[in-house]
Parts: sequence; structure tokens; C-alpha cells
Amino acid sequence: MRLCIVGGALQGMEATFLGKKADFETVVLDRKPTAPALSFCDEPHVLNPLENPDEARKVFESCDAVIPACEELDLLKSLDSMLSGSSVEFLFDLESYGVSCSKKRSNEVMSSVGVPLPQPWPECGFPVIVKPSSQSGSVGVSVAFDQEDVERGLDTVRTLGDEPVIQEFVHGRSMSVEVIGNGDTARSFVTTEVMLDHNYDCKMVRCFPDLLSPEEDKFFGKIGVDVAEAIGLKALMDVEAIDTPKGLRVLEIDARIPSQTPAAILTGTGINLLEELVASRTDRETGRTNSGRSGIYWHMYQKDGVLRTNGEKEFGHVRNPRMERGLFGSDDSITDYESGSKDWHGTFMVSADTPEKAEARRESVIKKIIETCQVDTYIDGTPDVI
Ligand SMILES: Nc1ncnc2c1ncn2[C@@H]1O[C@H](COP(=O)(O)OP(=O)(O)O)[C@@H](O)[C@H]1O
Ligand SMILES: [Mg+2]
Repeated sequence: MRLCIVGGALQGMEATFLGKKADFETVVLDRKPTAPALSFCDEPHVLNPLENPDEARKVFESCDAVIPACEELDLLKSLDSMLSGSSVEFLFDLESYGVSCSKKRSNEVMSSVGVPLPQPWPECGFPVIVKPSSQSGSVGVSVAFDQEDVERGLDTVRTLGDEPVIQEFVHGRSMSVEVIGNGDTARSFVTTEVMLDHNYDCKMVRCFPDLLSPEEDKFFGKIGVDVAEAIGLKALMDVEAIDTPKGLRVLEIDARIPSQTPAAILTGTGINLLEELVASRTDRETGRTNSGRSGIYWHMYQKDGVLRTNGEKEFGHVRNPRMERGLFGSDDSITDYESGSKDWHGTFMVSADTPEKAEARRESVIKKIIETCQVDTYIDGTPDVI
């Protein structure tokens, strides 16, 4: 399988990592020469398909499949029209992506199939979340404790030229589940827990078999399947929910390859979602089953004597990374660390047969970094509790 990945940033690194793990030949295309996935794929191309469509088409036609790893709507639309009707599989579903880009539309679909959502305002009372319907990456999201805060939040949403979603502020762990659909039926995969840094950016993903009770876990999987089938998903999407004391409340869906959770799932269970997506398009089964092990995936960043855990936005600044096995005792890593360097980024992955042993392995990787890299201070930031 020769796979072209369009976009070499965070999603592109994820797709390249998964592709290489599946033994695919990986071709990455990005208009920026500094895009990090270019340095560890098999065949990098610095190229913008919107500016050089003929050159891009040649690359696509040399591949079996193309997956976009970007969220630029113009580019996605252009790829869709370039590849529809060609013999190259386009591992993307523009229509479902359109639904998932609008929280208003996706909330309507989800309500119609009985998915539990945070209660809308004003029924729910304060505090509430005010967020723009069509942004991503927590852009323009705010918490409101009174009417004045709501007005401020609405101003922010208006500045973004967007429509607001105002809903109950729900508390609990952030959970994610991935779903692959063939346009008709869908299959949910493994539940993961997403942990945030001080900027509310995802710094770590845990893939443990017992994150939810068996009933809740089954219910989360069913939510994923119901939503995917309701929108006719013909690709991969993730469902993000909060595990509240009253049960799961779904925040959003995103019909594109996510970053971080698939690599965590591969580490924990041996299931490769990119390989599954390719198989679903060719009506094959990968035959892989969940090993039931536990995996942890997390980012680190050292600058001078300070070592921090950090969100993926900071990890996006990694320069010319490579994939390396065994670094500091981890299983896998994506990093620009060189012996003696004091300014580097790394994503590490460890697995073990129990969650406790996986946590112990993570601690031991961090300890080894502290010993090896002349670290004076170690900071593991978390969001301020509201
Ligand atoms: N109803 C809510 N209650 C509590 N936190 C929320 C709620 N909605 C969003 N958030 C927080 O804001 C973040 C971003 O919101 P989300 O709906 O996922 O939009 P996006 O990721 O597209 O910006 C979430 O990860 C979560 O931390
Ligand atoms: Mg989100």
C-alpha cells in the first residue's frame, strides 16, 4: 500500500506514524518545507495542491490511497473533486466532515438519535460554555457564570463571524472513541481518555481497557455507531465526550483522522485505525483483535534545564523529527532529541499488561530523561480547576 498523506503537521505526523507502523509506503505532501512529518515519511514532497494541481495529481496517481491530514476546507474540497471517480481511494468523507464542522448541525443529528448532550441554555442554568459552532482547537470557547459573561462570550463568537452554541458546563474526564463507517454501517473502536495541560491542550492519552464500566463503554461505542450511521459516515471520525457523574455527555464529533488517540490505541491494543480504514474501503478485515493491554501516549518538551509535559500545539514545533524505538526506555517515540541537546520535543509511547505497569513505565521514561538530560525542574501542568 502506497499512501499519500496531504498535510505534514500534527494529523500528518499521526498518519505517517500509523502508516509506517502498518508497513505502508508513506508519501507526505505539505506546502511548508518545515512540516514535521516530511522528515520521517518515505517520500516527502514540498507542494501545494491548490497551486500546483498537476504536480499533485501525479503524486496522487502514483499512490493507492490519499488521506487528507489538514482542516483547510478549500484544500479538502479540491482534493475531493480531484479524486472522486479516480481509481485512487480517497480516505475522507467531505459530506460527513461538513456536518461535523458545525456543532449546531451535529448536535441536531445527535439529539435526533438520542445521544446524551450537555443541556442547552437557558434551561441548564449557570455555569455554561459559550462556544463558536464551526471552530476547532478550543478557539473562542469560554465559561460563563452570569449573563454578563454570556454577552462577552457572544461577542467573541461574533468577532469570529460564527454562530454560538451555549450549553451546560459539564465536569468529568474527557473521553474519546473512534468510529469507521462504510457509508452504510459503522464500527466503533476503543475508548481512550484525553488529559489536558495548563492551556487545555491535550498532553496525554491513556488507552486502558477499564476506563469506563463495561455498560458505559458499550454505550459509548453505540453512540459512535448511531451517529456515524445517522450521517452516513464513509471514513473515520472521533466522538468526544465528558464522563460526568450523570453519565456521558457528548461535546462534539470530528469526521477526519484525529491526532494522538489512534497512536495511543495502537500502543495499547495493537489495533491500527489507519490500517482498519484502508481495509474498510477494500472490504477486507485486518483480522487484528484487541490485545487488551494498556498504553500511554504523551508529549514532553525540554528547554534549558526545564522539562515539561506539554500539549500537542507545543509538540507541533518539533523540528525534523524521526521515529525511534526504545528511546529512554519507551516503546516508540517521535522526537528531535539528539544526545546532549537541551531544547527538544518528544512524543513517547509505552505499553504494559496492566494500567499500573504502564504508568510505572511512563514514570521510568521521565526519570531516565531527567537523569540523562541535566534537567533541574520538571513541570507537569494541569488546567486550573474552575
Ligand atoms: N459543555 C461543556 N462543558 C465543559 N467543557 C466544555 C464543554 N464544551 C466544550 N468544553 C471544553 O472546551 C473544549 C473545546 O470544545 P469542543 O466542543 O471540543 O470544541 P473544539 O475542540 O472544536 O474547539 C473541550 O475539549 C472541553 O475542554
Ligand atoms: Mg474538541
